[in-house]
Amino acid sequence: MQINTNQSEHKDNLLLSLISRYHQVRQDSLDICAPLEKEDYTIQTCSEVSPPKWHLAHTTWFFESFILNHYQPDYKVYHPQFDYLFNSYYETVGKPFPRAQRGLLSRPTVEEVLQYRQYVDKAITELLEHTVNKTDSKLEFLLALGLNHEQQHQELLYTDIKHIFAFNPLRPVYKPRSYPSIQPPERYSWLDIKAGTYNIGNEQNTFAYDNEGPRHRVLLDDFSIANRPVNNQEYLEFIEDDGYKNPALWLADGWKHMNNSQCHHPLYWEKKNDEWWYMTLSGLKPVDLSAPVTHVSFYEADAYARWCGHRLPSEAEWEIAADAYPANRGNYRETGLLQPIARPEAPDFFGNVWEWTQSPYQSYPGFKPLQGSIGEYNGKFMCNQMVLRGGSCVSPVEHLRHSYRNFFYPHERWQFTGIRLAKD
Ligand SMILES: [Fe+2]
Repeated sequence: MQINTNQSEHKDNLLLSLISRYHQVRQDSLDICAPLEKEDYTIQTCSEVSPPKWHLAHTTWFFESFILNHYQPDYKVYHPQFDYLFNSYYETVGKPFPRAQRGLLSRPTVEEVLQYRQYVDKAITELLEHTVNKTDSKLEFLLALGLNHEQQHQELLYTDIKHIFAFNPLRPVYKPRSYPSIQPPERYSWLDIKAGTYNIGNEQNTFAYDNEGPRHRVLLDDFSIANRPVNNQEYLEFIEDDGYKNPALWLADGWKHMNNSQCHHPLYWEKKNDEWWYMTLSGLKPVDLSAPVTHVSFYEADAYARWCGHRLPSEAEWEIAADAYPANRGNYRETGLLQPIARPEAPDFFGNVWEWTQSPYQSYPGFKPLQGSIGEYNGKFMCNQMVLRGGSCVSPVEHLRHSYRNFFYPHERWQFTGIRLAKD
């Protein structure tokens, strides 16, 4: 009898904790959008950027499509065409609306999208209340996946809002704030790692995406890795040394891309009266020379490393170094800065900027994507993209792990992407 009471209390606590976490993550998305005006919600400034309204609807569709449609027998979808409008790339679910045209949709309105969110939130809450006494590990995993998915989109909301505001000559301010003045750190130093066989990847005893495993062995030679990311002062030296004009430093694809796009500095940088400024979520600011450089492509990161006579780390090297030199809590979105800053307390592996690695985004040995349509989440993108590690100033801290693998195409720069050096 005592055992049953304890089990019942455990289930009640589990229910409360699941419902509370669900509503907290969902509320976080609304809070991120709170400073926006209605007009801001529908803008799409390039094909990679999605309108904030689309993010709010798509994350809702994810719960509807992958949970409610399967676990609530009498569930009635909110709108029959939302399955088309807010499907991102799940071809086995149905044909998605073209990504590059998301900003052309004035309807549904923001109000309708908010109603859609409430409708799905109510249905998910009811589902949890009815199923919490039946152990269903798949449902628990899908719920965790849906919440982690929404947190990924929260990070995208910040980066997309920044792109939308930076596109506007009025340079709107998302959140006014000043950044702490930090003494420029010393030149980076090197952390040495001995050659050996190491294990990387997630052990799968906590929530992780399928692409983080299986945990497996890697063979590494002796290498050294910088104790912090490259800062703006160091990157400026590359610009002033005509690094962007020297083809010997660039990969062929990178040289072609940078010439075609006429990029000669990081995204969001602009020169006014011989001084460099950049767009932040707090508006246009003078470039902080001590802060990590950000909004650079893989091509720029690679060219910079070559200009230094060094290289980018592989993702295995990065993970082993981050394990070997435990870092302090980084500059994640919880600091509220929403902008990289210098962190004197190196080694500094987490937060601030996603760090490009030289590793192509591929499957680990023994990788198997998740079963069903949800298997399209990660695995089908394992071609032509590069892995980034560490998390940025707009990543939620609880969302990241040492094994976390982000991935973007080598030319992309609108995320908070930065550079860490390594050498043999
Ligand atoms: Fe998504």
